[in-house]
Formats: sequence, C-alpha cells, structure tokens
Amino acid sequence: MAIALCPGSFDPPTNGHIDVVERASRHFDRVIVSVVANPAKKSLFDVQERVVLLKELLGHLPNVEVTSHSGLLVELARERGADVIVKGLRALSDVEYELQMAQMNTNLFEEVDTMFIITNPKWSFISSSLVKEVAALGGDVSRFVPKAVNEALVGRGKVG
Ligand code: PNS
Repeated sequence: MAIALCPGSFDPPTNGHIDVVERASRHFDRVIVSVVANPAKKSLFDVQERVVLLKELLGHLPNVEVTSHSGLLVELARERGADVIVKGLRALSDVEYELQMAQMNTNLFEEVDTMFIITNPKWSFISSSLVKEVAALGGDVSRFVPKAVNEALVGRGKVG
C-alpha cells in the first residue's frame, strides 16, 4: 500500500492545494494531509481552524485523512509509514526551495522520497500569502479559494 504525505502551511487552503490533494488521492492508496505548524511564521488561521477547513474541503475523498503536526516533517513520515512526500509545483521559482527541502528530508530519512504534482495552470499564480493580502485589502478572492475558505476570510474582515 502506497502512502503519500501532503504537508503544508495551508494558511489558508487554496483551490491549488485542493487540486493537488485530489490528484494525489488518485495515485496513492492513502493520502495524509498535514497542516504543519511553523511557530516562526505569523498565521491568520490557527492550526485547528485549518484542519477543520481541510476536513470539510476534502471530505469527499475517502482515502484522504487530515491531521496536524509540529516538529520535523520526516518524523511524521516515519511515524505514519509514508512512502512519499507530495508537494505541488507552481512555477520554476518554486523549484529551488522545494529541491532543497526534498534533499534535506531524504538526508534526514532516506526511506522517504519527494514527488511533485504540477499545479494546474489555472491556479499557478495563487499562493496563500497573496490570497491573504488581497482579502485583507478588501479584494474578492472567491475565484481562488473554496467557498468555505472565502467565507472564513470574509469573516475575518480586513485583517492582515
Ligand atoms: O506550504 P508550505 O509553507 O510550502 O509548507 C512548508 C512545510 C510545512 C512543508 C515545511 O516548512 C516543513 O516541512 N516544515 C516542517 C519542519 C521541517 O521538517 N523542516 C525541515 C524541512 S527540510
């Protein structure tokens, strides 16, 4: 049984994230989506809010589980027996950072490999940071995020 781990900040989840997880769920027996807490990064949604949103957004996929983790990603991969870390690649500019993380993770835990799913070009310009910036300034982000996320952003009002 092939198990994939899809980690991320998901602050908040975007249409691009959902697309990558949906496609991963077609290729792997089991997909573990994990909200990874980064204490150094100021977040808009707390970890539990992001988990609740992702559970709602991915509830239609029976082989997908949503969890959270703090600490090293490879420790979660080891604990959960994940074979592969799956990440989305939007553009060439993502490659340098993703390559570095993938190589570090395999150095820390050689049994885990990283595979990339190329983001649908429809969503390639979307990032959680840009979505937050546009929403905080009162822009309409409803085309870029699922409805539940848009409602959560609107609920926050114009906050940074
Ligand atoms: O959605 P993001 O911000 O691109 O996700 C980055 C994430 C959460 C996958 C990365 O920061 C991570 O793995 N953090 C956990 C801590 C860790 O293992 N750091 C070493 C990575 S090489």
